[in-house]
Amino acid sequence: MPKRTSLHGLWSSRLAFILAVSGSAVGLGNIWKFPYVAGANGGGAFVLFYLLCVALIGLPIMMAEILIGRRGRRNPVATMRIVGEEEGSRPTWALVGIMGVVAGIIILSFYSVIAGWSLSYIGHAAMNRFSGAGADQVNGLFGGLLADWRVLAFWHTLFMCLTISVVARGVERGLERAVRFLMPSLAVLMIALLGYAIFHGDFGAGVHFLLEADFSKLTGEGMLAALGQAFFSLSIGMGAIMAYGAYLPEGTSITNTSISVVIADTGMALLAGLAIFPLVFAHGLDPAAGPGLIFQTLPLAFGNMAGGHLFGTLFFVLLTFAAWTSSIGLIEPAVAWAVETRGRGRAFSAIVIGLLVWALGFLTILSFNELENFKLLGRTLFENLDHLSSNILLPLGGLFITIFAGWVMAKNSTAEELDIGSGGMYVLWRFLARWVAPVAVLLVFLHATGLLRWFGVGAS
Ligand code: PHE
Repeated sequence: MPKRTSLHGLWSSRLAFILAVSGSAVGLGNIWKFPYVAGANGGGAFVLFYLLCVALIGLPIMMAEILIGRRGRRNPVATMRIVGEEEGSRPTWALVGIMGVVAGIIILSFYSVIAGWSLSYIGHAAMNRFSGAGADQVNGLFGGLLADWRVLAFWHTLFMCLTISVVARGVERGLERAVRFLMPSLAVLMIALLGYAIFHGDFGAGVHFLLEADFSKLTGEGMLAALGQAFFSLSIGMGAIMAYGAYLPEGTSITNTSISVVIADTGMALLAGLAIFPLVFAHGLDPAAGPGLIFQTLPLAFGNMAGGHLFGTLFFVLLTFAAWTSSIGLIEPAVAWAVETRGRGRAFSAIVIGLLVWALGFLTILSFNELENFKLLGRTLFENLDHLSSNILLPLGGLFITIFAGWVMAKNSTAEELDIGSGGMYVLWRFLARWVAPVAVLLVFLHATGLLRWFGVGAS
C-alpha cells in the first residue's frame, strides 16, 4: 500500500525530531510540577514508583504513539481512525484521538497560567527583587501575584499569544528553531542550580527526602499521582507525541529516539528535585507547599548567590521557553485536526482554538483568588482540571493507545514501524505494550478508587 505523506511537512532531521519531542516533554512538568507533586506525596517512595511508571509504562507507550502517528500521518483523531480501519478494526478508535484533543485543551488552559507566573518572575528577577530576600519576602511576592486575577490574566494572555504565534507558523519554521538551543541551555542552568544547592542547601536532607523510599507514605492516590505525573511529564496519552510522529521521516529509529527522550525528561525532573529540596529544607520550608513550591524556593537561592541576578533572570527566561515548547505540543493535535478536517488555515485554526483555551484559563486564574474557597469534590477548580486531565484522561488515553498498538495492530505492522527486527528488543516492547502497561494502568486506577481493596487485594 502506498505510504501516506504528512500534510504539515516533516522534521528536517532525526535530531530535529528528538529536540522537538524532548522540547514537548521537558517543561513545567519537570521543573514546576515534579518537585511539588513529589513533595506533596511524601518524596522517596513516590519518586521510585514514578520511575517505574516511566520505564515500564511510559517508554512503551511513547514508542506506540510515535509508531501509530507515523503510520497514520494525520492528526491523532484521523490517525486512530485510519490505522484502526487498516488493521481491520472499528473507526470508533477515533474517540481516543478526540479525548486527547480535549485533554490537551484542558491541560493548556492551566499550563498557560503557570507559564504566566514564570513570565512575571522574569520581571522580578531582572529587577533584582530577590536580592538578599528571606522566606517571608519571597512568599509575599508570590502571594501578591496570585491575589490579583487581572495580573494573572495579563501574563496568561501574553503566554497564549506566544504559543499561538509559533503554532500558526507550522512545523519547521516555528517549532524546530526554538528547541535547538533552548534545551541544552536549560540543562546547563539546572546543573548550576544543583551546584548551589549542594554547597548552600541542606543537600543531605534533600537527597534523603527525594530518594529514600518509605512505602508506608505511598497511598493509592499517591500512586495515581505518580502515574499521572509520568504521563504528563512525557507528554503521552493525549496524542501530542502521535501528532509529532506524523511528521517523522521514514527510517528514523523510533526506539532510540524514545529512549533518549525518556532519559532526558527523567534526568531533568530529578535534577530539578535535587536542586530544590535541599533549599526547601535549608530554609525550613514545607516540601508539601503545593504549586508555589519552586516560586517560593528558587528566588531564595537566586537572592543569596553570587551572580544570582543574572542566573535568576536567565532561569525564568529558560523556564518560560521550556513551557513554550511544551505548550505547542499541547495545542498541536487540536490545530492539526482543525486544519485537516475543517479545511481552515493553520493561523486561523491556531487563533480560534487558542481563544477557547484562553477563556478556559480563567477557571484556573480565579482558583487562586476570587474562587479560592470554591471546592468541588474537595478540590479547587484548578486542582480538578489538573486531576481530571493528568491523572485520568492521560492514563486512560495511554491505556487505549497501548491496547491499540499491542492488540489491534498486527505484529507485522508494529515491527515494520519500530524497525528493531523481531528479536529480543521487539519482543520486550510488545510484551510491555500488551501486558505490563495496560495491566499496570488498570491496577493503579483500581487501587486509587479503592476498588482493589473491594476485590479483596491489598491490605492498606
Ligand atoms: N510534558 C510537558 C511538561 O512536562 C507537558 C505536556 C503534556 C506537553 C502533554 C504536551 C503534552 O511540561
